[in-house]
Amino acid sequence: MKRLLRQIIPPLRRALGHLAAMRRSRRLGRLAVADAFDEVYRKAYWRQGDSLSGVGSEGSWAADYCAIVADLVGSLGLTTAVDAGCGDFSIGVRLAQQFEHYTALDISAFVIERNRGAHGHLQNVTFAVQDLIEAPIPMADLVMVRQVFQHLTNTQILAILNNIARSGARFALIAEEVPAGPFEPNRDLTSHSVTTRLNVESGIDITAAPFNRSASLLARLRRRPVGRSDEPVLSLHLMKLQPGGACA
Ligand SMILES: C[S@@+](CC[C@H](N)C(=O)[O-])C[C@H]1O[C@@H](n2cnc3c(N)ncnc32)[C@H](O)[C@@H]1O
Repeated sequence: MKRLLRQIIPPLRRALGHLAAMRRSRRLGRLAVADAFDEVYRKAYWRQGDSLSGVGSEGSWAADYCAIVADLVGSLGLTTAVDAGCGDFSIGVRLAQQFEHYTALDISAFVIERNRGAHGHLQNVTFAVQDLIEAPIPMADLVMVRQVFQHLTNTQILAILNNIARSGARFALIAEEVPAGPFEPNRDLTSHSVTTRLNVESGIDITAAPFNRSASLLARLRRRPVGRSDEPVLSLHLMKLQPGGACA
């Protein structure tokens, strides 16, 4: 009997946990975008290790991403950056000192207030609450969007891509979690979501429809230590933008 229970209980727990997560995700999808992500941070839904922004913001994905940005700073001569959807600043704190000025924006007032408390002493960093879908993005050499689009609908992503193009930025770096193998890109979500397109076996590719942006694939980062071959990868695209709001 004990053996039977040991076999049944773990998968049952996992299934119940999955159901609860789906219910929560559906409920948050009905809230305004700002309220949904505020709740994610207040209740630490994404926290698995140290970062409130989730496992993608720590470990090898964070280290490898920051190394790539450091290379770009040198090779492209970048001095100013916008971290669009900065989350809990786990990534920003590792990058900010490489720029003369670093603007960190997020829709969650809760996480921005927390960032101001922890990192307000950084002289070259400005934190601001901003909905990237609605408000103009400040001008900078580089706009970084890291694991933000994966939570938004295609219409919301298009609005942000247009805002980035209009900002006058020279470059935009888009980093998104995608399936390891072949996948149908950009399957739409019914609303913004605390989960990602991995749930619908898809991921964001800004070079594919409906975005069709011209961008070069810089890297597909596997998480280390390397685990199962079907683990998602972090895909990085660099867009070179033209003055006047167009994409090259
Ligand atoms: C998974 S977190 C990634 C945080 C950070 N970029 C990183 O990689 O650590 C996604 C972030 O996007 C923010 N976000 C989602 N929609 C947004 C919007 N419309 N405007 C600004 N930030 C948004 C969320 O509040 C959240 O902090």
